This record gives sequence, structure tokens and C-alpha cells, in this order.
Amino acid sequence: MGPARGPEESAASLGVFDSGVGGLTVVRALRHHLPSEDIVYLGDTARLPYGNKSPETVIRYTRACVSVLLERGIKLLVVACNTATAHALPTLEKELDVPVIGVLEPGARAAAAHSHHGHIGVIGTRGTIASGVYQQALARLAPHARVLARPCPLFVPLAEEGWIEGPVPEQIAEHYLAEFREAGVDSLLLACTHYPLLINTISRVMGPKVTVVDSADATAETVADALDRLHTRAAPGNLGALTCMVSDSPDRFAETGRAFLGEAITHVEWVDL
Ligand code: DGL
Repeated sequence: MGPARGPEESAASLGVFDSGVGGLTVVRALRHHLPSEDIVYLGDTARLPYGNKSPETVIRYTRACVSVLLERGIKLLVVACNTATAHALPTLEKELDVPVIGVLEPGARAAAAHSHHGHIGVIGTRGTIASGVYQQALARLAPHARVLARPCPLFVPLAEEGWIEGPVPEQIAEHYLAEFREAGVDSLLLACTHYPLLINTISRVMGPKVTVVDSADATAETVADALDRLHTRAAPGNLGALTCMVSDSPDRFAETGRAFLGEAITHVEWVDL
């Protein structure tokens, strides 16, 4: 993490980045935990999905997005995309002066904390699961736990379409998740920022004995701790403005993003990446 740079930094925004609308689930948690913080969000909707792209491509895309956010003078960067966190977080931590927080560590800690019998499931994009970063983090955080990690690629388009309830999502969830249920996992981590939209369907398929863990709240708490440590929290009376930017259609983002954010998105800027 970089150093705090004086009181004027408190007035700067948090920068949040995802491949598309999914990171708005993290923005929602940030706005709940840190209502006074201004947030600048960038969704790289023109190049979504990141989940099936190579690490090199994801790192290249991530760098481009981050440079747009840095131009806005952000005080802290939240990588609200599991795939970008998996592939690009170490690079960003090395290259940037601003503090960087990814969804990996908070999510893995929350999944470990919710597992009472030490059998943890992780679902995410192909890229996230193949990278092995969650498996490694859980091996460190919960060394005795058994970890089952699998990709659930169709959950992303279902969430994007808002097709989150009913027989089709339920059948797809059953197809992906039966293995986790049969293996007896007691904590299932949604290691993809799109998946929280399907949490009701996923929870129903997994049954009442399984805690389905979303990393958004844990990430927001980690951001709050970092701001306290760096003395860069916004003034309590600040309005907490949200600015959204996208690399593809602003209208489509505003329409889809509403369900992810839990509130209307009134203004979206297009940026050329
Ligand atoms: N938001 C991405 C993630 O959390 C999923 C969507 C994509 O594949 O780009 O991994």
C-alpha cells in the first residue's frame, strides 16, 4: 500500500473497477458501509467478459482502466472484479502509488470464517478458478479446510440478463452446484462479482445448511479499515456522490446496473479505453 498524502486526500474519491456491472455489488456495500465517500466507478463493458481471457490480456485491460481512474485523482483503488484481482492485483500493487484493495483476501477470509466444518466451496469464472489464487489463499487462511473450486460461467450472462429466478437459472445452478452439495461444503464463496445477483437461487439449490458468502461486505469493511489507517476518510457530512463510467453503451449499463446497485443510476459517462 502507498502512503497517505495529507488531508486534501480525504476529499478525493474511491476508484472502483470491474469488467462490467458486477462490481456494482461491491459499490452497493461501499455505499452502505461508507456513505460519505465519493465513488468513481468504471465498468469495462466493451471488453466484458474478462473471465475467459488470458492473464496477460486481463492485466493489459486492467492497466488501461486503472489509468482512467487515476486521472480522476482517486485516493484508493478497489478492484471489484475477481478475475482482475486474480490476475492483476500483484502487478497493480507493485506499479501504483495509491493503495489497492482486491476482493480476494476479504472474500477468502469471510468464506473461512463461515465454515464450521472446514469444507469450503469456491465458484467463479474460469480464469479465477484456473489461477488457483483462492485455493492458495484458503490454504493459508484455513490450512485444515478442504476446498472445492469450480467455474460457473453461465451465471455471468444470467446475471447480466437479470434472469436470476425461475426454472432455467435453477436448473443451471443445480448442474453446477450438485457436486458442492454432495461433497458437503458448509460455506460457498461467490468469487465473482456477478454471482450475488443469483444468491437466492444459489442458496435454494445449496440448502439451508450451507452459508453462501458474498465478498462485497467484507471488501467494504477492508476499505473502511484502510481509510482509517491512512486517515483519509471523507468528512462525515459529505454527500457520497457516485459517478459511473463505461466503455460501451451507458444506457444499457444504467438499465442492467440498477439491480446490481440496488438504486437507480442516473448518469453514466462513456470513456474511450
Ligand atoms: N466481474 C467478473 C468477476 O468478478 C465476472 C465477469 C467477467 O467475466 O468479466 O470475475
